[in-house]
Amino acid sequence: MSIRIKLLLSYTGMLVLSLLIFALAAGLFTIAATGDIHSIRDFYKVHYQLNPLTEQEESIFLELKYLAKNEPDQLLDKDLLVDYDFKLRTVRAGLYVRRESNQVFESYTFHQPQLEQYLPPYDLNNSQIRNTFNIGERFYAYAKFDFLYSDGAKGSVFVIRERSPFAEVTRRLLPILTLLLIGVLVIANLLLYRWITKSVIKPLNLLRSSAERIQEGDLGFALNLSSRDEIGQLNEAFENMRKRLQESVQLRLLDEESRKELISNISHDLRTPITNIKGYIEGIRDGVADTPEKMDKYVDIIYTKAVDLDKLVDELFLYSKLDLKQVPFTYEPVDIVAFLDDCIEELHYGMQEQGIDLGWEKRPDEPLWVLADVEKLKRTVLNIIDNAQKFMDKPKKRIGVSLNADEARVTVEIRDNGMGIAPDAIPHLFERFYRAEQSRNSTTGGSGLGLAIAREIIEGHGGEIWADSQQGAGTSLFFSLKRTTNSGGAHGTNPDH
Ligand SMILES: Nc1ncnc2c1ncn2[C@@H]1O[C@H](COP(=O)(O)OP(=O)(O)OP(=O)(O)O)[C@@H](O)[C@H]1O
Ligand SMILES: [Mg+2]
Repeated sequence: MSIRIKLLLSYTGMLVLSLLIFALAAGLFTIAATGDIHSIRDFYKVHYQLNPLTEQEESIFLELKYLAKNEPDQLLDKDLLVDYDFKLRTVRAGLYVRRESNQVFESYTFHQPQLEQYLPPYDLNNSQIRNTFNIGERFYAYAKFDFLYSDGAKGSVFVIRERSPFAEVTRRLLPILTLLLIGVLVIANLLLYRWITKSVIKPLNLLRSSAERIQEGDLGFALNLSSRDEIGQLNEAFENMRKRLQESVQLRLLDEESRKELISNISHDLRTPITNIKGYIEGIRDGVADTPEKMDKYVDIIYTKAVDLDKLVDELFLYSKLDLKQVPFTYEPVDIVAFLDDCIEELHYGMQEQGIDLGWEKRPDEPLWVLADVEKLKRTVLNIIDNAQKFMDKPKKRIGVSLNADEARVTVEIRDNGMGIAPDAIPHLFERFYRAEQSRNSTTGGSGLGLAIAREIIEGHGGEIWADSQQGAGTSLFFSLKRTTNSGGAHGTNPDH
């Protein structure tokens, strides 16, 4: 749920709740008001002390008062009293008459046996003729008049009206209800606050502390927030940023590591021929090469080492440029069959001289077109064939070339029947400076860059290179390239380079 909706919901919730509470309060107030009584105790008491009776009741009361003043004995006449009571009953009030401590008349509407005890004592001054009283839960308002009967006995006439018990209930419940409603409001508020805090503030705090951790260079943690709202999206973006940062930091560390390794490998590989050259030159200087034959031999060795050095520097230079993607690739449509024909033809005689039989194993009749940088592709094939020839150990030496094609790709296989490669070395063949036999001073020489360069070139073409080998039986080097449909396609430059 989005934060906007959450906020909207929480505010709407509070609004609805307030409206509900307002409606309830208004309802209670109305009940209290229309139930003849105001809810605030003092207020309604005072109100009914002043106006205990309605207008009609009041007029009946005035009649009774007049009678009490002028003809008090009439108020002993049961029939008359029943008449008055009847009139009062029609307006929902009742009559009560007493003489000294005796009850003369009590309207049966009251059903209140304790009524007598709650009535006020005689007060012939009639200083307070209107008042209220409670009997238990019931609430009464009355008007009374005290007088003397003709024989001097004290008498009172009461017009009593029971007020709405509803009002009483309201009066009692109102404080509780008000407290309850305030409680509900507070609890609802707290719950909403918790909800918003949990879903908004906490994740934001977490995000902030994560940002601080990143600032301090700590990238090795994961932000696990599963919410799907705006904060969730922010968190996702943040988490992605953290991952990218971590990756780039790791990449940088790896790069640094490999740069160090490269430098140490280069120094090692350069030092060997240089030491050799230095040794032979010292030999000449010290007069060790004292015959022209010896001198020729020394100079030859120095020359070979210098050529090796030159080759090594060339390879290093090419590899580092390929690795840094600084070599432009010039692509053109190449018929790979014709291309391999040329390669074989070019190398054939040189190989024959070394007793190696180099040739096709499976040559397609149709031309197969690929987009390639011919020069670099040739370099790849030469590096592979150079290895095949270098690691040959059989008397009947054979290097075979095959081509397989499907809809999308052409795969070239260059197979030899040489010494083969140990299975655990195969995954490392294409790493720079990797030499399976490990010994740096082996007879084969080599810097371990040939296949690393081949991989850079093939991957630069968007292709793949891999090896398969049977130790002792021979090795197959494969590379695949994307096919192109037309033979006269546009010359282009791979965007990678
Ligand atoms: N056809 C093969 N038969 C046996 N081993 C091979 C073959 N091709 C490669 N290897 C092994 O893989 C290693 C890496 O080959 P790569 O061409 O990269 O280096 P290199 O030949 O040693 O040196 P460079 O090619 O730079 O002169 C070799 O040293 C060799 O141990
Ligand atoms: Mg090689």
